[in-house]
Amino acid sequence: MTIENGISLDARELTRVYRRGNEEIRALDGVSLQIGRGEFVSFMGPSGSGKTTLVNLLGCLDNPSSGELELAGKTIFGSGRPLGERELTRIRRGVFGYIFQNFYLIPTLTVRENVAVPLAFYHKPGVEGEVERLLGMLGMEHRMNHLPGEISGGEMQRVAIARALVNRPEILLADEPTGNLDSKRSGEIGEILQHLNKNAGLTIIMVTHNPGLGRLAGRAIEMMDGKAYEN
Ligand SMILES: Nc1ncnc2c1ncn2[C@@H]1O[C@H](COP(=O)(O)OP(=O)(O)O)[C@@H](O)[C@H]1O
Ligand SMILES: [Mg+2]
Repeated sequence: MTIENGISLDARELTRVYRRGNEEIRALDGVSLQIGRGEFVSFMGPSGSGKTTLVNLLGCLDNPSSGELELAGKTIFGSGRPLGERELTRIRRGVFGYIFQNFYLIPTLTVRENVAVPLAFYHKPGVEGEVERLLGMLGMEHRMNHLPGEISGGEMQRVAIARALVNRPEILLADEPTGNLDSKRSGEIGEILQHLNKNAGLTIIMVTHNPGLGRLAGRAIEMMDGKAYEN
């Protein structure tokens, strides 16, 4: 699937309510926003404000309680014709790349093997050699055959970035990609993301607590109590 029009994601009144016993938590409260192709958007805001809930919905990883989401004009969730699980899976594997705060590398696989994991599920045509090319671009060529336990936190995050990019996604979703890194390493990851956005036209949706990283994005959205604010 390729994104043909200018708008990648169109969210309307997205709401997500979690139930914990008898308690209802309105984690996301009617958020509407559009993210265009090639944008670099950052989400900031206090812990518990709904950032992860929102980006998981934008990344088609979770279902809203109500509201609509379109991706490139196709209804993902909502009243149109919502996609079936098979099509959703195809989108998750072919359109998105995901980076999570805790990396989630597989400890028994080498760096090279970890980056190649998504290819076992979906191998986009034309991505031969991407594993080595990305690890080279990220300065990790000398670590290809190491296990995750043998590399630093910053290096693990580079592996997670390479893995997210291996199928040449159109949209990169990064939830606190530098949450576990010191400021120097965070800055390096920020530069890599900015480079990918400027030079490869990658759309980036990033949650961060780091104001320096947030400033790299062309657009900053502030979350508070499940609502999104933008000036
Ligand atoms: N799976 C869940 N079950 C119940 N409550 C949840 C769940 N995930 C998140 N929440 C609650 O929803 C709110 C928003 O959480 P989250 O989106 O993770 O915020 P953030 O990423 O901004 O820290 C918080 O009150 C959190 O406790
Ligand atoms: Mg979060």
